[in-house]
Amino acid sequence: MNTISIHDLSLTYKNGVKALQEVNLHITNGMFGLLGPNGAGKSSLMKTIVGLQRPQSGQISFNGKDVIQDPRYLQQYLGFLPQDFGVYPKISAWQLLDHLARLKGIVHASERKQQIGYLLDRVNLTAQRYKEVATFSGGMRQRFGVAQALLGNPRIIIVDEPTAGLDPEERNRFNMLLNEISEDIIVILSTHLVEDVRHLCAEMAIMNNGMVLAHGKPGQLIQELAGRIWSREIALADIEQYAQQYRIISRQLIARRMHITVYEQDTPAGFQPLTPALEHVYFNVLQTKS
Ligand SMILES: Nc1ncnc2c1ncn2[C@@H]1O[C@H](COP(=O)(O)OP(=O)(O)OP(=O)(O)O)[C@@H](O)[C@H]1O
Ligand SMILES: [Mg+2]
Repeated sequence: MNTISIHDLSLTYKNGVKALQEVNLHITNGMFGLLGPNGAGKSSLMKTIVGLQRPQSGQISFNGKDVIQDPRYLQQYLGFLPQDFGVYPKISAWQLLDHLARLKGIVHASERKQQIGYLLDRVNLTAQRYKEVATFSGGMRQRFGVAQALLGNPRIIIVDEPTAGLDPEERNRFNMLLNEISEDIIVILSTHLVEDVRHLCAEMAIMNNGMVLAHGKPGQLIQELAGRIWSREIALADIEQYAQQYRIISRQLIARRMHITVYEQDTPAGFQPLTPALEHVYFNVLQTKS
């Protein structure tokens, strides 16, 4: 079993932005989803775990070893897909993977060949293996990024918004791949897509403003809202009046009609009960705790 323990982790950038504020998390094998809006601190947390930046205070350990003191211990077991991969060199997908595999310490040519062939197939890039990565489409680059993260049998995979830019079919393939490999390792996935977390992750956290606002199992967090989520259609002009009276957790324009979803303990007049979903958890947490 692999374990990441994060204790009171705080990081402030030079411009004064508090990107992480006393973050506490305990993560073991399986998929862990990190949900949060733009600027929540997801990438900051991931970059700090992988040792790309040092926090001002707090601790991170991986399998009992101090990650902040010695990032190399975690890095040898790490597959990382950053949000911005940077500039791609003008070499083929195969050559670039071969180069990265050497850096990861896969010294035997036959082993590299076998792994690279397998991974290119898994991310559906076999036909493009001799094309320059610099000429790939956004989705192809993303899939290449996934393949490089999987090189060298990592024990921990950290992927920052991996499905951004993938079409629905590729997103599905990718999610299934992560799901398969996460059985024996830690996979930390950041996303804005509530659905991905709902379907894939056994454990999750919701972040905003550098803080972890909720964490637990998606099903449990949803269960806590049972009987408290209501919706109705209203006139567009009445929205402010409803906002004063109820805790509106989402508003949606459907075919020019306004639909609101509210959190209330008791049945509000004129509303229909809704079966709670992870989206409600997400919006409710962001509304009340941000
Ligand atoms: N290098 C940096 N220097 C200064 N501020 C930064 C830096 N990187 C991020 N920030 C700020 O820190 C906060 C957290 O940013 P971060 O990139 O971690 O968010 P995020 O949750 O990954 O957002 P997104 O979903 O948009 O990727 C934001 O306010 C951001 O503007
Ligand atoms: Mg980010």
